[in-house]
Amino acid sequence: MKNKPLRVTDLAWEFLRPVINPGDIVVDATAGTGQDTLFLTQCVGETGRVFAFDIQAVALQQTNDVLEKSGYANQVTLIHQSHEFMVSALKEAAVGEQMVKAIMFNLGYFPNGDHAVTTQVETTMAALNGALFLLACGGLITLCLYPGHPGGAEESQTVITWCETLEAPFVAHHFQTLNRKSPPTFIMIQRTR
Ligand SMILES: C[S@@+](CC[C@H](N)C(=O)[O-])C[C@H]1O[C@@H](n2cnc3c(N)ncnc32)[C@H](O)[C@@H]1O
Repeated sequence: MKNKPLRVTDLAWEFLRPVINPGDIVVDATAGTGQDTLFLTQCVGETGRVFAFDIQAVALQQTNDVLEKSGYANQVTLIHQSHEFMVSALKEAAVGEQMVKAIMFNLGYFPNGDHAVTTQVETTMAALNGALFLLACGGLITLCLYPGHPGGAEESQTVITWCETLEAPFVAHHFQTLNRKSPPTFIMIQRTR
């Protein structure tokens, strides 16, 4: 952290690192620039598998480039579909129910592309319900939320309100920076049994 403000993306990695084991199956619900996908690939190792979704071909291309450069491309299935179809896409790939150790959502827009193309409340909520269904016991869903862009505040609030209603075996945690205007916020959902 040193003298820089804590970033929600760093928080996600810090919480996920000790939970993901070599051989695990994990999902990057929003591939974007490929940095989170690369991180997940390093966590699951050669025996694991990462499924990475994005609706933009340009984002998946960048993710693939990052993975190729690092020599990890074989461990990742890139899926050019909305994350709301996560359950059926993983079923097609013969991944059983509730076997996914971690599911990362880094919402908002592709930083290197059209900022008008963002995640949307309806599809985000459909994807989150699918993620609960897939999550393994002891697994984590992480969410980085950005209320600062158009539609972002509504999306963030909808996710937070939904998390407040989750029942056992799920436990939802919320990290919020208090003294910045529209700061990014971090949510983590654990499945305890
Ligand atoms: C903030 S970026 C993700 C950052 C990324 N995880 C990284 O490491 O750079 C958000 C991404 O979500 C993608 N996205 C938007 N709606 C989506 C959807 N319904 N399903 C999957 N991806 C979506 C955007 O195209 C964009 O690339």
